[in-house]
Amino acid sequence: MVSRARGAWRAVERFGFVTLWHGRLAGGTADVVMDYSVSLHIDRRLATDDIAGSRAHVRGLGRGGLLSDTEVVELLAALDTVEGELADGSFVFAPGDEDIHTAVERRVTELAGDTGAKLHTGRSRNDQVATDLRLYAKRELTALAGQVVTLQEVLLERATEAGAIYLPGYTHLQRAQPVLLAHHLMAHGWSLARDVDRLLATVVRLDVSPLGAGALAGSSLPLDPDGTASDLGFGGRFENSLDAVSDRDFVAEALFDLALLGVHLSRLGEEFVLWSTEEFGFARLDDAFATGSSMLPQKKNPDVAELARGKSGRLIGNLTGLMVTLKGLPLAYNRDLQEDKEPFFDSLDQSRLALAALTGLVSTTAFQAGRMEEAANGPAVAAIDLAEWLVERGMPFRQAHSVVGGLVHDSLERHVPLAELVEGHPALGIDAVALLEPGVAVTRRTTPGGAGPAAVEAQVTRFTHRLEADRIRITAAS
Ligand code: ARG
Repeated sequence: MVSRARGAWRAVERFGFVTLWHGRLAGGTADVVMDYSVSLHIDRRLATDDIAGSRAHVRGLGRGGLLSDTEVVELLAALDTVEGELADGSFVFAPGDEDIHTAVERRVTELAGDTGAKLHTGRSRNDQVATDLRLYAKRELTALAGQVVTLQEVLLERATEAGAIYLPGYTHLQRAQPVLLAHHLMAHGWSLARDVDRLLATVVRLDVSPLGAGALAGSSLPLDPDGTASDLGFGGRFENSLDAVSDRDFVAEALFDLALLGVHLSRLGEEFVLWSTEEFGFARLDDAFATGSSMLPQKKNPDVAELARGKSGRLIGNLTGLMVTLKGLPLAYNRDLQEDKEPFFDSLDQSRLALAALTGLVSTTAFQAGRMEEAANGPAVAAIDLAEWLVERGMPFRQAHSVVGGLVHDSLERHVPLAELVEGHPALGIDAVALLEPGVAVTRRTTPGGAGPAAVEAQVTRFTHRLEADRIRITAAS
């Protein structure tokens, strides 16, 4: 603990200026409190949004007659200077700069003196930080959605060039039915399409300005929340000042969007891990997207794919952590809310890196068509085609299932080729044997959305249109 008199002296000595609240807490702040509560190292990335928010606030104060035209010009000029200093690295942070908001206001006040001291009129860091974070989230989530589309475009490209290549589709990781490689790749593409949707929907919902809510209750001064909202490009302003400063739903939603995106990337990653094993042999990784072993000279490891799998845990953790932070918080602002930014920024950073790395991995991997098709050519994967062939000739499906199941069983037990048993079966015969020919089964998946060539061709068209439409949505939101 710090004694009042010593504290005030220490605050000046240590920080070179007194804290924003020195009028009330003249005793100064203990060093450990500053160390514990400082968030500048995290929230300094909100600098440009903080300055944008301050510009809008200053113009609003001008419209309300709280600043003269000259004062508005003076403050805007000081904000320009601060922006320049932050951009070129000449901004000198003071030891007492608790967060980016404090730092910017301190510097504006140094530059613009008494006028600078008017910057925070009618504003609290509570509405300020919520405004900054929403501006940041709008831009970054939209950009991230664009990066997801880039990965989808690569999946589409690889799907298109895969042509007629097929591989086993799996259930329970057991070979089930052959599917076109294009179909398999686009399956990941469609799950990513929902991620794009979610990110853009989150952006629409968070597009609300909290500026003008003040600390929690609004103000006695003639502020202009509608004007500042449209000045900042928000869709509208808050309806309730308490809600405006305490709402972090948008961060939680964004963290969910990113966690689920992470789960999708981890599933994609897991397949590249499997496919690049010698056992599968479906994919050969490009050297640039693989790593070696420090000990075993022969190793080529799929670390990018493994990290996509591993880091999904961290993304889920960030979501869970914030949900726990928010749970049970009373209205309105509580300092707990400062804990929103670190997980949010981390999830954004990790998602950006994961998307870039996986985009590279997918675009450079050499798919091994021979191995894929060989694995899909076993006669057993055509079992369903035999059963459906019988159904087409009037046999109830359950009976057909049992007939073919019996043949597969006999083939394995008696070591007789399935084709021989099919040929000899009274309900099947030589015509049905053709179904077992390599490459035939996949062509028989003809239903819409199915894994066969015609359906996949139609799917490619729809997916292409979807990506074009999403690109347009992202550009419009940017
Ligand atoms: N750094 C704080 C945060 O990120 C800013 C708001 C501080 N407000 C307050 N009343 N102490 O939440």
